[in-house]
Amino acid sequence: MKKACLGIAMMTALCVSASTMRAQEQASGKKTFKARCAGCHGADAAGKPAMKSPSIKGKSTDEIQKVISTSPKHSKLKSLTLDEVNGVAAYLATLK
Ligand code: HEC
Repeated sequence: MKKACLGIAMMTALCVSASTMRAQEQASGKKTFKARCAGCHGADAAGKPAMKSPSIKGKSTDEIQKVISTSPKHSKLKSLTLDEVNGVAAYLATLK
């Protein structure tokens, strides 16, 4: 019984810390987004017709990595780290 309780307590602690990490990732991703993407994709990521930039709400890490490595518009973003891209994707997922 004691063991089971300990197990449950540990699971709870793990889940809590995982969701805290996710929240931190989203918060730092929001900063990266505002600094590096919002100028073209708009403050809410909905895209800017004047700049011919599409909505990027909900875009995944893979999709962002691909665009950074292939699109000339994104050549300045090659310096972003994987952590930063993951953060931006985590933030964009909250905008869906
Ligand atoms: C200089 C302006 C500019 C900046 C800065 C910019 N983008 Fe873009 N983005 C565009 C344009 C224009 C397109 C349309 C396709 C193209 O030209 O590559 C696009 C397309 C995309 C696409 C593909 C969307 C689709 O549906 O195919 C993704 C994903 C994307 N951008 C993500 C980002 C992220 C994430 C950032 C910030 C880290 C960013 N962009 C910064 C202009 C920009």
